[in-house]
Amino acid sequence: MSLNVVILAAGQGTRMRSKLPKVLHHVGGKSMLAHTITTAENLGADRIIIVYGHGGEAVRSAIQNKKVEWVEQKERLGTGHAVQQAIPFFSANVDENILVLYGDVPFATEGTLKALLDQQPCDSMAILTTVLTSPHGYGRIVRSVQGTVEKIVEEKDANNEIRQIAEINTGILCASSQSLVKWLNNIDNNNQQQEYYLTDCVGLAVEEGKSVEAVMCEDPTEVMGVNNRVHLAEMESAFQARQREILMLNGVTLRDPSSVFVEGIIDIGNDIIIEPNVLLRGSVSIGDDVSIGMNCVITDSVISAGTVIHPNSVIEDSKIGKHCEIGPFARVRPKTELASQVKLGNFVEVKKSNIASGSKVNHLSYIGDAEIGKDTNIGAGTICCNYDGANKHKTIIGNNVFIGSDTQLVAPVKIDDGATIGAGSTITRNVPAKKLTLSRSKQTTIDNWQRPVKQN
Ligand code: UD1
Ligand code: MG
Repeated sequence: MSLNVVILAAGQGTRMRSKLPKVLHHVGGKSMLAHTITTAENLGADRIIIVYGHGGEAVRSAIQNKKVEWVEQKERLGTGHAVQQAIPFFSANVDENILVLYGDVPFATEGTLKALLDQQPCDSMAILTTVLTSPHGYGRIVRSVQGTVEKIVEEKDANNEIRQIAEINTGILCASSQSLVKWLNNIDNNNQQQEYYLTDCVGLAVEEGKSVEAVMCEDPTEVMGVNNRVHLAEMESAFQARQREILMLNGVTLRDPSSVFVEGIIDIGNDIIIEPNVLLRGSVSIGDDVSIGMNCVITDSVISAGTVIHPNSVIEDSKIGKHCEIGPFARVRPKTELASQVKLGNFVEVKKSNIASGSKVNHLSYIGDAEIGKDTNIGAGTICCNYDGANKHKTIIGNNVFIGSDTQLVAPVKIDDGATIGAGSTITRNVPAKKLTLSRSKQTTIDNWQRPVKQN
């Protein structure tokens, strides 16, 4: 059996009041459409067909996924019309199923969708429903006295009795390709909205004597859609609640869960403590016993066991070794690798540098394009002058080096093992091992000098 997933993404999303097409708005750091595509991939879809319309080119160029196929819906004539556009991609034989997802309903879980696929009768369809306390605006599931699904009626076409029904159509359905193509060719737009409704396929199936299965989604937040930015915020908060729960159930202490945000895939050890206002983004791995202080942002990085990140630190695309201490107010920029027991203190910026174990950069320094050996101490205010205005150059510092405060290392330059550099030096040439090197004009004192005084 092959599975084609059709993702409807042609909606205008007028109520978002945005130049960005609705499906490109982000939840959890990723567009709603990209989340939906991930879901389709996780279900093992053989083909993923996206029906796009409004802002079409922006949508296509935002999604760099080679597996996805695109079809344009030039006129927005309804959900049935949208799925009709994908028919040329179907083989329409008995061995093919079609799952319809919405690009703005990104969080139906794999478990829920698998249940839907499992329930689908082989020549008919299964629909995903849920029960809402306020079902206003949704298509209602009309059942027979025996409880079988008879049809779906849209809010605008419903009478008062049908409007009382709390079971609604989520829009997600799964059907045999062969039958779906036949039903789609038979729908019309004789309704209040003069649209071609995908939901009319349900009634057509039942008229043929086929049973339509309804799978009820227990948690309505899974099938929440977005029409405006209030919904977007609600979806973000439901998404974050799930991410926090996963972290906590896996042994992470969140001092204030509501202020911790996760946008990506987090791999975690045990006994991690995360303080308030922390954002974890991209692919982040955090080892045992790590603690992360308030107001930290960590993106695409590995933080190894026992490390302490103090408040207000920002770490991006870097690897932090075991038992390091970072911050407060440290900035670790891409391609930095710290071995174990490295200390970076306040107002220290490190970029594209390797620092070996036991070394310290404690205060007010810029380390860029550098390699620093073991047990080296970089004094306060040390700057790697790595950029000559055109090119970047490397600073190589050995083991057990001591660099005095306020030193400029003008790259390319190399400091050998055990060297000491006097405070306030501008180092432009390589520095030999185990000696004191300094560049500093001699201190003088001028006798009988008078400080100017104000004249009134
Ligand atoms: C639809 C369902 C309704 C269900 C609700 C769930 C129909 C007729 N109605 O209603 O039963 O309760 O979703 O949210 O199917 N789209 C296109 N092209 C179109 C029209 C829509 O791609 O021509 C896409 C939209 O981008 C959206 C999805 O289809 O992703 C649903 O469209 P929308 O207009 O929101 O449908 P509803 O009227 O809400
Ligand atoms: Mg809708």
